Amino acid sequence: MTHIMFLFFILNLLQYSNPQIDKTLGYRSRGELEYQMTKIDYDWPDEKIRQDFINNNSYIAVNNIISGIKVWRRKIFVTVPRWRPGVPSSLNRLVSFYGRGQSTPHLTPFPSWEANRIGKCSALQYVQSMEIDPNTNYMWVIDTGRLDIFTENPRNLCPAKLVIFDLQTEQEIDRYVFPNNVVSGSSNFLNDIVLDYVNGSVAYAYMTDTYDSKLIVFDYINRESYFISHASMLADEEGRSLTINGLTTKISSNINGIAIASNFQYVYFTSVASFNTYQVPTSLLRNKSSNAQDIDASIRNIGRRKSQTSGLAYSSKDKMYFTSLTTNAVFQWDARLDAISAGGFRYATLQSVRQVARNDTKMVFVDSFCIDENGDLWFTANRLHEYLLNTIDISRRNGTNFHIWRYTLQPGEKNYLHNANRRTRL
Ligand SMILES: *[C@@H]1O[C@H](CO)[C@@H](O)[C@H](O)[C@H]1NC(C)=O
Ligand SMILES: *[C@@H]1O[C@H](CO)[C@@H](O)[C@H](O)[C@H]1NC(C)=O
Ligand SMILES: *[C@@H]1O[C@H](CO)[C@@H](O)[C@H](O)[C@H]1NC(C)=O
Ligand SMILES: *[C@@H]1O[C@H](CO)[C@@H](O)[C@H](O)[C@H]1NC(C)=O
Ligand SMILES: *[C@@H]1O[C@H](CO)[C@@H](O)[C@H](O)[C@H]1NC(C)=O
Repeated sequence: MTHIMFLFFILNLLQYSNPQIDKTLGYRSRGELEYQMTKIDYDWPDEKIRQDFINNNSYIAVNNIISGIKVWRRKIFVTVPRWRPGVPSSLNRLVSFYGRGQSTPHLTPFPSWEANRIGKCSALQYVQSMEIDPNTNYMWVIDTGRLDIFTENPRNLCPAKLVIFDLQTEQEIDRYVFPNNVVSGSSNFLNDIVLDYVNGSVAYAYMTDTYDSKLIVFDYINRESYFISHASMLADEEGRSLTINGLTTKISSNINGIAIASNFQYVYFTSVASFNTYQVPTSLLRNKSSNAQDIDASIRNIGRRKSQTSGLAYSSKDKMYFTSLTTNAVFQWDARLDAISAGGFRYATLQSVRQVARNDTKMVFVDSFCIDENGDLWFTANRLHEYLLNTIDISRRNGTNFHIWRYTLQPGEKNYLHNANRRTRL
């Protein structure tokens, strides 16, 4: 039985994979630096309001950094984490005014200024990441509810929540407020989110909580949430010193990057302060009754990387993309190729790994990714280590700080959610 299943698995894979062609692709030449910014500024209603925000410390330019990115129909959504005071809007769209004689892009709050108002709990407080489902055109946004979490005095203003917007109407269509015992209103750092399809629609969302070291599960159908926690989600001792371009930062970040396989059978996760990469079956996450022994038996270390990493992305062709922070590069793991040689995704390890992009000045701290419906891999590079060390230079002397790159993937390679509604239908 196992034997037949295995054979079936191989045939299935060979049907639509040709690793030989893949190996010869020159990704390097196909990357575009789409946007570069020295500092982050906004599309203010008028110059007086901008000055008012500066005067009352509601806009402190040096504390603004772009981090999360998702692209939908050429609209680019970016987050500005409210890690420190003076971030006027957390969820934004990138707009550029080339036509109006301005050379640098600006951010415009999404869906509005009001929806990003500090202290108003119906509004977004601090958004690190979001996910866009190309099948429904819904954007799933995670909000920690907390502000200034990189300072001595975090402000715990609102409970953490998940908010869903319909991008076609730009209206909020749903929200879920997390109970405090699942996502703590006083200590969480909700970091990243992926969606899990079952029977043709989204059934679960999985999120990382970096401070409380949890993998949070939101059961969308039953509208409840729970979490799992495990030693693999903690920072490693050896990963706590991060050196980029000669600058060393001490980090202690737990579970952060998350990706889900395009067949929705496995979730992958990483911590910034770690070299290890882990896999957990969705069957475990979908089961609210999973106990500590189940968790321990199911989480698997799939291999050590050469560098610390940040965000992850997984494509419809079973390629997982990750950052190599210490070498200013982006790597790709061909999970399908390794699954073929190992006898299944549950045995595959990080063997077929290769660099797809590198740039020592403009890919410094590649933070997060997205793959859009055109088959383009987008990522932000934001010099986050310099932000942490307070050495980021937002004057124009040292060139640009924040970069948005776009790489065209192999033909037909899309986001893991591509056609998920049809692929998972009963
Ligand atoms: C700062 O000024 C702006 C513009 O007048 C105002 O909307 C905002 O509420 C002020 N913020 C604080 C914290 O006073
Ligand atoms: C999916 O469909 C199967 C078979 O009808 C059912 O047992 C299962 O509960 C469904 N799961 C979800 C999450 O809809
Ligand atoms: C969920 O986990 C519990 C505890 O290990 C186990 O008894 C149960 O069979 C699991 N349910 C499913 C559907 O696997
Ligand atoms: C880094 O990217 C910039 C912008 O595309 C380019 O001009 C520069 O040559 C690149 N540097 C290297 C070492 O590839
Ligand atoms: C600009 O870069 C140079 C060389 O890396 C460095 O010595 C200098 O301190 C930087 N200036 C600022 C204002 O950060």
